[in-house]
Amino acid sequence: MRFAVVVVLTIAVFGGWGPPSPAADLSTPATGASVEEDFEDLPPGPGRAAVYFTCTACHSSKQFTQQRMDREDWDQAISRMVHDNKMAAPRPWARTLMLAYLSSHFGVDVEDWAGLPPGPGREEVFYLCQACHSLKTVLQQRLSREVWDETLVWMVEEQGMPEPEPADYARLLDYLGTYLSPETPR
Ligand code: HEC
Ligand code: HEC
Repeated sequence: MRFAVVVVLTIAVFGGWGPPSPAADLSTPATGASVEEDFEDLPPGPGRAAVYFTCTACHSSKQFTQQRMDREDWDQAISRMVHDNKMAAPRPWARTLMLAYLSSHFGVDVEDWAGLPPGPGREEVFYLCQACHSLKTVLQQRLSREVWDETLVWMVEEQGMPEPEPADYARLLDYLGTYLSPETPR
């Protein structure tokens, strides 16, 4: 069946039978790989595109991927780009997204997940919750699932946290209610 499809396509493209040609190898997407490479050495994650398109306009990503800074220092680095280096001021949401990305992937705590215990949902908590405050704000709490639920709603409704998709929300809540519950030892 597959052979038949390839043959039909080969005929369609080249108008007849012929020796196999590299151009007829339709199984290899020609552009997929280079799109990945275009992000230079930036690891995948929410905010990568925003950082890539904003920050590599003037210099290579190497200018900042070697750094390890906490959120406050990344915030100041972005301010320096705007005030000293004539970068266009990012929109607030873009700044939040870039800060989350930079402090997650090139933060001081990146090796130990800032102390978040391992478990499903850790990544989501790690990336989302330190966009606005240190993860210590989260880690020092021991709350029931119900109170975590209220806290998340509060983050969304009062503090401007982007509302997670329902599946992500459930993962966040499961993680917090399981690993930072009143039963969790300090
Ligand atoms: C409009 C141009 C421009 C843009 C956009 C830009 N930068 Fe820069 N950046 C510079 C210049 C100029 C330097 C100084 C280079 C040097 O010192 O040789 C620099 C240096 C840096 C440095 C090292 C020096 C320092 O002040 O810490 C970091 C880190 C940095 N940039 C991060 C970023 C990040 C993160 C972004 C995206 C949010 C970004 N840059 C976007 C122009 C820019
Ligand atoms: C858009 C910004 C933003 C994001 C994202 C965010 N928070 Fe917050 N959070 C805040 C602000 C602002 C405060 C301080 C509010 C206050 O004390 O009035 C806060 C405070 C808190 C507190 C402290 C409550 C207390 O009683 O002191 C907890 C716990 C918390 N956040 C949990 C989370 C969790 C968990 C996440 C990730 C799922 C998260 N936050 C993501 C903005 C945010």
